[in-house]
Amino acid sequence: MQRRTLIAVTGAALAGSMFGRITAASAATGWQQRWAPEASVDGLGAFEGVEDDRANSHPAGQPHIFVQDDNFRFNMHMVDRDSMTDRQRQEVKGMHAKGADLVVANGETWRWTYAMYIPGSLKATTTFTHIMQMKMPGDGSLPIVTTSLQRVDNMPKIQLHAFNNDVIVGRADLAPLQNKWIDVEFEMTVGDGAKGAVRWALHDGATAVIDVSRSGLDTFLGDRVRPKWGIYRSLGDTSGSLQDTYMLLTRMRAYKATTVAPVRYEAESAARSGGTVDSNHAGFTGTGFVNTENAAGAWVQWTVNAPAGPATLTFRHANGTTANRPMSLTVNGTVVASALAFDPTGDWTAWADVPYTTNLNAGSNTVRLTATTANGGPNLDRLDVVATAA
Ligand code: GCU
Ligand code: CA
Repeated sequence: MQRRTLIAVTGAALAGSMFGRITAASAATGWQQRWAPEASVDGLGAFEGVEDDRANSHPAGQPHIFVQDDNFRFNMHMVDRDSMTDRQRQEVKGMHAKGADLVVANGETWRWTYAMYIPGSLKATTTFTHIMQMKMPGDGSLPIVTTSLQRVDNMPKIQLHAFNNDVIVGRADLAPLQNKWIDVEFEMTVGDGAKGAVRWALHDGATAVIDVSRSGLDTFLGDRVRPKWGIYRSLGDTSGSLQDTYMLLTRMRAYKATTVAPVRYEAESAARSGGTVDSNHAGFTGTGFVNTENAAGAWVQWTVNAPAGPATLTFRHANGTTANRPMSLTVNGTVVASALAFDPTGDWTAWADVPYTTNLNAGSNTVRLTATTANGGPNLDRLDVVATAA
């Protein structure tokens, strides 16, 4: 069985995510990749722990959890028993990278993506069949969130359940998703009371099967949150759906939402054509602002250092007139916006932010604003740069 080589989701991108708002002015949220195991390279060392037949109920079937091709494989036999013998469990727990276990803490937002193969033999049941859990470490607590294969009104479903609130966040028909690779996205803000949130999306190739979000959830119990993957199911099923089975996972990734501080570049320190550095209108940062020359073609150019990838450039300006003073935006000699609007701010002492997200190169970049009309540009105070690359 070959793993899929292409995953429909892009982990580092913010688009399509409820959590990925790019805020204009002073900081931006980006997804930082924290975990990217390759099964064939990292093996089960990708995880914090492996619960392979932890009650040693079926030694002849071990290992139940192993690497096959570039996939993590979880086998479940009818004879397997967990320490509580009314159920079965073959699960991995937690994430291990660069010699340490990853900690998902209260207040943090994380995103997981992976490809999953559910064969026809892994069926939905009338009692629980969990294939992913978010849990507090240690025994004795209920899961916080589960993905489960559940029979609902006699129909096999895959569903996401937020336990503390007893909310089914989303539910989809299971049958069309079996015997093929599907892409899973799961996002979670760990929060006590009602500060938690989740997003769950399944893609079958390019088709979005489900994409649901829920906030106002309690997703914190009292310790860090640890993901578990595998098969954990009750033997109490009354639909005849239990049989020997397995599940495959691959391309597992985890990203943490990280707020990146901006790097500030004052306009009065930038290169420019004409214009003056003034300080007669209050509210600027640094030692002044650039009063751009009132002419088409007048420009201000910053030299900006950044990692490769997307960055949000936020220009602060004042425009005490009643007309837009558009400028073109050129990055490393290429026009990326032909007429960025610098709208009236009401007064020369009223300053406003104009954000624009574009790609920067690793290292030094030139960022130039050029007036496109005879009125010239506005008064320019500064440029804030937030690199949102992973
Ligand atoms: C006024 C204002 C300047 C501004 C200029 C303009 O003179 O004081 O700060 O640059 O208008 O219209 O560009
Ligand atoms: Ca001017």
